[in-house]
Amino acid sequence: MNGNGPEGEAWAADGKDKAMVVGDDELKGGDEVEKEGVQKTEGNVLEVEDLKKYYKLKGELFSKPRYVKAIAGVSFNIKPGEMMGMVGETGCGKTVVARLIVRVEDPTGGAIRFHGVDIAKMKGKKLRQFRKNAQMIFQDPYASLNPRMTVLQSVSEPLFNYGMRKEPEKVYTKVVKALEDAGLLPVKEYLERFPHELSGGERQRVSIARAIILKPSFIIADEPVSMLDVSIRAGIMQLLLSLREEYGIACLLITHDFSVARYVCDNITVMYLGRFVEKAETEELIQNPIHPYTKALLQAVPVADPTREKEELPISGDIPSPIDTPSGCVFRTRCPYAIDSCADSMPELVEMRPGHKVACHRVARGEI
Ligand SMILES: Nc1ncnc2c1ncn2[C@@H]1O[C@H](COP(=O)(O)OP(=O)(O)OP(=O)(O)O)[C@@H](O)[C@H]1O
Ligand code: SF4
Ligand SMILES: [Mg+2]
Repeated sequence: MNGNGPEGEAWAADGKDKAMVVGDDELKGGDEVEKEGVQKTEGNVLEVEDLKKYYKLKGELFSKPRYVKAIAGVSFNIKPGEMMGMVGETGCGKTVVARLIVRVEDPTGGAIRFHGVDIAKMKGKKLRQFRKNAQMIFQDPYASLNPRMTVLQSVSEPLFNYGMRKEPEKVYTKVVKALEDAGLLPVKEYLERFPHELSGGERQRVSIARAIILKPSFIIADEPVSMLDVSIRAGIMQLLLSLREEYGIACLLITHDFSVARYVCDNITVMYLGRFVEKAETEELIQNPIHPYTKALLQAVPVADPTREKEELPISGDIPSPIDTPSGCVFRTRCPYAIDSCADSMPELVEMRPGHKVACHRVARGEI
């Protein structure tokens, strides 16, 4: 074993100055990760209720405050082992939802409960447990990995941060298992490599190994394959599915690509300008889209063939600014079916077919 192996002291040193490292006095027992593991629960892993996030804009002194309404009230639940897809065009608020769930930012309104506990009220040990149990995988694995850390250092760092600093051999075994689970084989060939020595797909697998090593019950994957070559996307998507099979990990998959959501997700929610406009089980939504926005997205997207070029959206105009959102239905400025009364009030999600909800006044009235 070389100096960077489990017998060496140096191999995890980089991890010690990270923000989430806990103090030595909190490391009693040393096997916090072992004991907590994946939480078994009968209820939902995640409950999001009327979530809102407004960003205040800097304005003139004494002028009326203006806000970016990034999230304007969304609700959803995710069960253990469930894969939920969140699809929408750029700027619709997908990443903000993710940031609120992992408590990188605080919401303006609404509630997020993780295994039944309001995350806004979590402190100390409960908050640390939550951060361990809810992991995030990012779009750009190169940016999310420390370029100066080897694969072994990167993947072991979360364990050191969560109380296993004094058990290097146990950590090493767990790193090997996480890399195996992430499909990086033979593991020994990857341990001492740096991010720049890996392909994009390999880097994303290292990020996934880093996320699963803490045995989370929930992962948010924000566009996990959009920066990867089409040829290696399926492998990463298959990996996400195998994590559900093996560990029962629930997942919120954020993507602008229906073909990715279709491959991985049990159900899909379509988002527009900070709101949900349609949600249903995956095949139901793709075979029977109802909302005019979902229909337009699906016409433009090669769902059955991810290698086909994307076509122009068959709706006119750009997404309005989230600072001056349209009154009533926020989609009305682009909707081919809009009529004057669509400006009167925001449509609520209404169940139109079993388990299939749509937010459109005219659909609810049976007019379209
Ligand atoms: N810190 C912030 N301050 C002000 N506005 C913000 C902030 N963060 C996000 N926004 C705005 O919130 C809206 C939603 O952003 P978000 O990043 O969630 O979009 P997205 O759906 O993830 O888009 P993409 O598909 O491009 O990643 C955007 O209009 C964005 O400009
Ligand atoms: S409410 Fe009106 S504008 Fe909105 S999606 Fe339905 S038809 Fe279009
Ligand atoms: Mg985003």
